[in-house]
Amino acid sequence: MDIKWTDDLSVGVDSIDEQHKELIGIINNLLTAIERNYARDEIQEVITFLKKYVETHFAMEEALMTRIKYPSGNFLEHEAQHTLFWENFNELLELFKKDHRSPAMINTIEIVLIQWFVNHICKTDKAIGAFVKRR
Ligand SMILES: [Fe+2]
Repeated sequence: MDIKWTDDLSVGVDSIDEQHKELIGIINNLLTAIERNYARDEIQEVITFLKKYVETHFAMEEALMTRIKYPSGNFLEHEAQHTLFWENFNELLELFKKDHRSPAMINTIEIVLIQWFVNHICKTDKAIGAFVKRR
């Protein structure tokens, strides 16, 4: 059930790829913590760390898009996806509050974190890499 970073996930910008690898590591830590029945506080810690890391990561991508003068339509679309992520993430937090290791929580991690990230990386983030290459 773990997610692995492979070359298919490379967007062609080293700074982004490095952070994506880190993100995948944190998501895997979260899954491990739940599967191994870690205490609620320990799971909470991983979630808090993930939240901070994603904040930093999105800010970095957005700053990069500004720096490379990424077309504003694409920028706004990208930013909107990041906003949507936080809405999904909040749902995950709600589930966590109710029961920190329910099957619904694991399901939501798969959909909200893993599927969302893989999809976002492969489409939206890769578009940044393609733009950088074309410049
Ligand atoms: Fe992104």
